[in-house]
Amino acid sequence: MNNKIRKPLVAGNWKMNGNNELVRDFVKCLEKTSDVDVVICPPSCYLTAFEQAQFSLGAQNVSSFTSGAHTGELSTSMLKECKVSYVIVGHSERRENHGEANDIVASKVKAVIEAGLVPILCVGEPLEVRESGQVFDFVKAQLDAVASVCSNTYIELAVIAYEPIWAIGTGKTASPEQAQEVHAFIRKELAQLNASAAQSIRLLYGGSVNASNANELFAQNDIDGGLIGGASLKIEDFTAICQAAS
Ligand code: PGA
Repeated sequence: MNNKIRKPLVAGNWKMNGNNELVRDFVKCLEKTSDVDVVICPPSCYLTAFEQAQFSLGAQNVSSFTSGAHTGELSTSMLKECKVSYVIVGHSERRENHGEANDIVASKVKAVIEAGLVPILCVGEPLEVRESGQVFDFVKAQLDAVASVCSNTYIELAVIAYEPIWAIGTGKTASPEQAQEVHAFIRKELAQLNASAAQSIRLLYGGSVNASNANELFAQNDIDGGLIGGASLKIEDFTAICQAAS
């Protein structure tokens, strides 16, 4: 991966896991890396506990609204006050379990970019779509929805994570070739909107990445790092994954 022009990025998505002890352990033990951008996305209630951290902070979700009667939601300005720099948008668990359709995801990406934060836009297909050979169409529709509400410059400001839903939390990683094929497709699609930005945007792979398979995945031409779920909860594993990206 060293010969790539893009700086690798590894983001840990803790989902609804972790506690004060894990926060303390990460702040104490996770080593700073200069050649990889490392982002930890804990549950929002722990964001401020990371104030002195040696890595960047990400949120797992955000509201597209700026303020008001939206019980349970957090705005981009609130996240900025918690020193957040990245926001995961459109994770499949939010799309599937919290009704986030493509248009909602698109409005969130827009809000995040307008606030000066970096969206980690998640795309990826369910198993039946892969089995029916419709992966590219499915991912294209997810990308097109965002492009239709954001100007093409969004590509200069975003990170995109390809996460096949059948690989998330299942232990069934996409093969490096399967992942690379979709990453190359995404970069090609983005190039039609903004050719130079498509070369510099970082595309992450997510879905059962672990310390053993990270090397091979990150060695692919268009894979610039990972969005890590389960393995981001163990410092040793997460450290090994960050090293694999460097
Ligand atoms: P996983 O999750 O690494 O546990 O498969 C990845 C994700 O959901 O971002």
